[in-house]
Amino acid sequence: MDEIKQRAREILSTMSLEEKAAQLLQVSYAGLTRVQAEEYARIGVGSFLHVFGEDARHLQEIAVSNKKVPLLFGIDAVHGHCLNRKGTVFPSQLSMACTFDIALVEEAASATAKEVSADGLHWAFSPVLCLGRDIRWGRVGETFGEDKYLAGELGAAMVRGYQGKDCSEKGKILACAKHYIGYGEATGARDSYDAEMTYRKVKSELLPPFERAVEEGCATVMTSQGSISGTPCTVDEKLLKDILRGDVNFDGFVVTDWRIVGSLLFAQRVASTFEEASKLVAESGSDMIMAWPEFAAAAVALVKEGELSEQVLDEAVEHILVVKLKAGLFENPYKEQSSDIIGCVEHQELSKKLSRECVTLLKNDGILPLSKKGMKIAVVGAQAEAVRDMYGDWTYFSHPRPNIDAMPERPYCTLLEGLREVAGEDFEVVYEKGCNMRSEFDGGVEKAVLLAKHSDVVVFAFGDTIYEVGEHKDRAKAELTLSQKKLFEALTETGTPIVSVMIASKPLCISEVDEGSAALLTAFNPGAYGGVALAEVIFGKINPSGKLSISFPYHVGQQPTYYNHLPGWHADSYVDTPKEPLYVFGEGLSYTRFEYTDEFFDEDTLTLRVKVKNVGERTGKETVQVYFRDLVSSVITPVKQLIAFEKIQLEAGEEKEVTFLFSAKDFSLIDRKERRIAEKGEFEVMVGGSSKDEDLRKVRFTIKEDVVF
Ligand code: NOJ
Repeated sequence: MDEIKQRAREILSTMSLEEKAAQLLQVSYAGLTRVQAEEYARIGVGSFLHVFGEDARHLQEIAVSNKKVPLLFGIDAVHGHCLNRKGTVFPSQLSMACTFDIALVEEAASATAKEVSADGLHWAFSPVLCLGRDIRWGRVGETFGEDKYLAGELGAAMVRGYQGKDCSEKGKILACAKHYIGYGEATGARDSYDAEMTYRKVKSELLPPFERAVEEGCATVMTSQGSISGTPCTVDEKLLKDILRGDVNFDGFVVTDWRIVGSLLFAQRVASTFEEASKLVAESGSDMIMAWPEFAAAAVALVKEGELSEQVLDEAVEHILVVKLKAGLFENPYKEQSSDIIGCVEHQELSKKLSRECVTLLKNDGILPLSKKGMKIAVVGAQAEAVRDMYGDWTYFSHPRPNIDAMPERPYCTLLEGLREVAGEDFEVVYEKGCNMRSEFDGGVEKAVLLAKHSDVVVFAFGDTIYEVGEHKDRAKAELTLSQKKLFEALTETGTPIVSVMIASKPLCISEVDEGSAALLTAFNPGAYGGVALAEVIFGKINPSGKLSISFPYHVGQQPTYYNHLPGWHADSYVDTPKEPLYVFGEGLSYTRFEYTDEFFDEDTLTLRVKVKNVGERTGKETVQVYFRDLVSSVITPVKQLIAFEKIQLEAGEEKEVTFLFSAKDFSLIDRKERRIAEKGEFEVMVGGSSKDEDLRKVRFTIKEDVVF
């Protein structure tokens, strides 16, 4: 037994049954009176969530002076420490994923860790490792998009950024991989509905990002609110014990999601009393219970009545103590607070850097970058002034205690401000809102049309709002609101070329905008500096390099639409809508062009080499993407699957050879017996600048023997 486990057991042996049960609680600070919160600290609960700074310190002092195990403070810092009004707001996960830049995402998490820890807190409920495969789901913007490999690599980067090599170090915090598992797969994309799927699919499609996070040492995992094939994930022993602890070797602690003990009783109805629900959760493999403090009394009663073994509580407490020991809480229960670092200039600059890398150019008939001096640019659309919609969900203004009518504090930069700033004296930038995002009626269309008619180009800013994003905000319709649609239609009739800019949490169904625009770009919820980053791309100060982390369907009826689907053969298409998405995963244009040649796969070393040349006229960044397909396999496998990528920068005319080294595991599948296996046979490796067939160059190789992992 290692030293930390030994220490955890010693501490455990000194705890009463009541103290153990309290240790399993995570109490929500919001809604408590100060006296209630102090009482929870005095009895030694395991954790509080959503408490900040001095309040956290005060509660910790109470726990420590009552000789209780130090408290752990958790917070939803999912794209920056932005539940704190002064925290740095990074782009959303979906947006960050468009950078395909592992190092940059790690840096953002590391900056977030410093801010969270400077607020006296120890733990971020991040990264989100659910996949975003159905845009109707309200939480798609919280994911890294539709691909398991990208989600795994970026999730791992975030874990490294938060925890570092040693999470007890100054400025480091604990990570939490969530939501385990299948939350994004719910039927009809209805938040927390049942996901009909097999464990084979779970292991094949959904588990890999969690495996990567655990490999990086992720200290905690949060359960999903949903259920899989009728079993709520929080009480699914196979998921929590056999797979997570057994197969994946997770050695941290599992926290349930929000008020799940209650949902077992009142919504999912797999228990008829508090005690029954508490027993189910405790015995199934969850360790800490979020926001259901009644659990402690129920657990104590159950043990006393002989209905629950104390050993079950001991195991859960031990898991929590081990993490607290690793986090250094017993040596130093207080984080070194310093408000200076929260929202500091260095982090703001990093946020701006990320926003620039997120911007993804989806269409360009050559109008961009805007370069003709003296041009008159009509900026139209309410999103040009949006701040909260640039920030996205889980900020002080949106979640979980919405302050929607409050205005964020500077610094931030709206699209309109960004366009004005970057245009300087060289261009004339005029603005007309044209419509109201939330209203069905178009107030200012006429004025906007007049302006468009007398301008050289229109920048049309559109998207969704935080009212349509997040928990409890799934959408059945994914097209533009009527007011935005009408405005756009009227603008197209003016004949002035349109550059459309989408500020939205996730893809919308916008084929009419695609058709009617000369250029189209997005960065989803691009963070506090989205406006300037988008403007810099529009005026060509920055060469765009974002690639889509998620596909755009033509129509919501196509959902789910993702590039790595399993093949069909009989009727692989709709009669009224194209089979392929409008824009697909991995896609994104640049102001230069890249040419791929000389692809070569060495079968003995499983190495791929390819030459990439910048054949355009300006420096640019390209994300070299590698996909594979198992040509014949014992189970149906995806038409293609990302297995590697590298973002490189090339000067005009420069060529680089890029090398990727693989192992047989990279080409493996989950077979009918739920084993991970690389099956012998022929494989196709595809390399290029997007997941589209026409952008990929192909080579084949053979694996000679089955390899079981
Ligand atoms: C519920 C959400 O599902 C989860 O993502 C979040 O971390 C917790 N609430 C805590 O706010």
